[in-house]
Amino acid sequence: MLSVSGLTKRFGGFLAVNQVSFEVREGEILGLIGPNGSGKSTTFNLIAGALRPTAGSIRFKGGEIGGLSAHRICRNGIARTFQIPRPFRKLSLIENVTLAAYFGNGSSDRVEARRHAEEALALVGLPADPHTMTDGLGAAALKKLELARALATRPTLLLADESLGGLDASEMERAADLLESIRTRMRITIIWVEHIMGVLMRVVDRVIVLDHGEKIFEGLPRDAAHDPRVTEVYLGQRRT
Ligand SMILES: Nc1ncnc2c1ncn2[C@@H]1O[C@H](COP(=O)(O)OP(=O)(O)O)[C@@H](O)[C@H]1O
Ligand SMILES: [Mg+2]
Repeated sequence: MLSVSGLTKRFGGFLAVNQVSFEVREGEILGLIGPNGSGKSTTFNLIAGALRPTAGSIRFKGGEIGGLSAHRICRNGIARTFQIPRPFRKLSLIENVTLAAYFGNGSSDRVEARRHAEEALALVGLPADPHTMTDGLGAAALKKLELARALATRPTLLLADESLGGLDASEMERAADLLESIRTRMRITIIWVEHIMGVLMRVVDRVIVLDHGEKIFEGLPRDAAHDPRVTEVYLGQRRT
């Protein structure tokens, strides 16, 4: 459903993403991992339209989307979460998610946006009443809110950026289970970025590993852990 080919992003003389190609199959959870600075968020920014590719192609459902505006890409059915959630702190959860539903996918119907927001909050397990405010939410709830904001736009492809960041071990397990159940219940496709392997490897169908903007591995999670380039570059240790 998504096909990335020769994707390249240059910042000045620096290649943040360098000739990266991969396919995403309908209904799968694809893990995209790599150390900090390896180009994961830049890849998301290119797919979601926050950045324009220097070179390469991004095809979604058969059409080229590389270089389209973020708004058009969202309306085409791609939603993303941000590594660092920045909700409107003074608004309630339902207001935050309704705004995302309303402006994100170009819906012109406020009642429908509200309904999509309520469904998204229910999916992630957050209250949709008008009194639960965003200020003071903990890390795990903020990550769920970020997920709900993306899901309220009714995506067919979800780009989840570091959904485990700032969570403790049991929260990470629950967040991984949540992504898996969202995939099943919403019948969507997910690309999930993390810099750590951890629980991600339990949930993803396939994994891609980036290092210095280049794809160094693509395959099954169980094979990634035994791949010499992955263990050397990603884990920083050489296998003997
Ligand atoms: N807007 C930008 N301008 C210049 N350099 C950037 C910009 N965005 C990211 N980079 C650089 O590109 C590299 C990859 O960043 P990023 O994609 O955020 O990595 P990751 O998400 O894998 O940690 C980093 O070295 C980062 O400093
Ligand atoms: Mg990142």
